[in-house]
Amino acid sequence: SDETYTVTIEPIGAEIKCRADQTVLDACLREGVWLPHACTHGTCGTCKAQVLEGELDLGDASPYALLESERDEGAALLCVAKPRSDVTIEGEVDVDDGVEIHPVRDYAGRVVELAEVSAGVRRLRVALTSPIPFNPGQYVLLRTPDGETRPYSLAGLPGDTIELHVKRSADGLATDGWIFKDLAVGDDVSVSGPYGQFFLRPARDEPVLLLAGGTGLAPMKAILQSLASTGCSRQVVLYHGVPTVDDLYEHEWLERFAASHQWFSYRPALSRDSFDGRTGRVPVLVAEDYPRAAGHVAYLCGSPEFVADSMKALMKARLFPRDIYREDFFDSA
Ligand code: FES
Repeated sequence: SDETYTVTIEPIGAEIKCRADQTVLDACLREGVWLPHACTHGTCGTCKAQVLEGELDLGDASPYALLESERDEGAALLCVAKPRSDVTIEGEVDVDDGVEIHPVRDYAGRVVELAEVSAGVRRLRVALTSPIPFNPGQYVLLRTPDGETRPYSLAGLPGDTIELHVKRSADGLATDGWIFKDLAVGDDVSVSGPYGQFFLRPARDEPVLLLAGGTGLAPMKAILQSLASTGCSRQVVLYHGVPTVDDLYEHEWLERFAASHQWFSYRPALSRDSFDGRTGRVPVLVAEDYPRAAGHVAYLCGSPEFVADSMKALMKARLFPRDIYREDFFDSA
């Protein structure tokens, strides 16, 4: 339906227009009204808000992310909820100081590179018709030929060519069915973004730990380039976890980057192989290297299991949740 409703966000009193077929989160982010969100697919619960007045269709909210009792009390997940009347919601709209918010927009582009960078991982570069601004660490939604969307972190610097790292997922609609099948250089694609609150906090000047599992490397590559472009004054250590040496990718790029930036160290963490005489998953190597991690700020990106285990290792080393920024992969098949 093309019906349009008014959504009022309290306590700031912002009023935005939202179509009946549009999610409240989408309408807000496109108007530049920031609301907390991570997965944009109804599974993480980050966008949970209270409905004060009016009616929302709760959409495809996961029963784990939005409990029956919370529904009964009028809560909604704004990334999947659509208005059925004018509504008033209570949302927390604060974002950290010094972070610029870039409204979500649609971008058209053309594939300029599609490279196999390791077994089951492709690097996709897309030249956009206009540059996309974003905070390093954020992601875009890539539209598949079937009209579905899949989230991919932006691995480059803001500009008119974006870089995405795509991990193959057996029988995945977007991967086996498209990116690993018939997508080719020269094809037209479209994305929307930027999304997410996993991004570099430039105001924090503590030494940085970047913990990446698999293609969780993508946002870290963006963060590293951003730090380099603004003149980094803190120590930065990146752990990249993959099973074997052959699964490492961007390896030469990272070694070159480490050689030309003395503030940066790169530590591959291999679970089924060794590198520099060491074997072990990222949480294990981090625990060995940092019996105390207090005084650092950490950024974690990978599978839910990777993020949970890394989080545990850091908290054991006395790093607090406020010093840890994290992004769990959700289904990008
Ligand atoms: Fe809405 Fe994850 S549940 S952002």
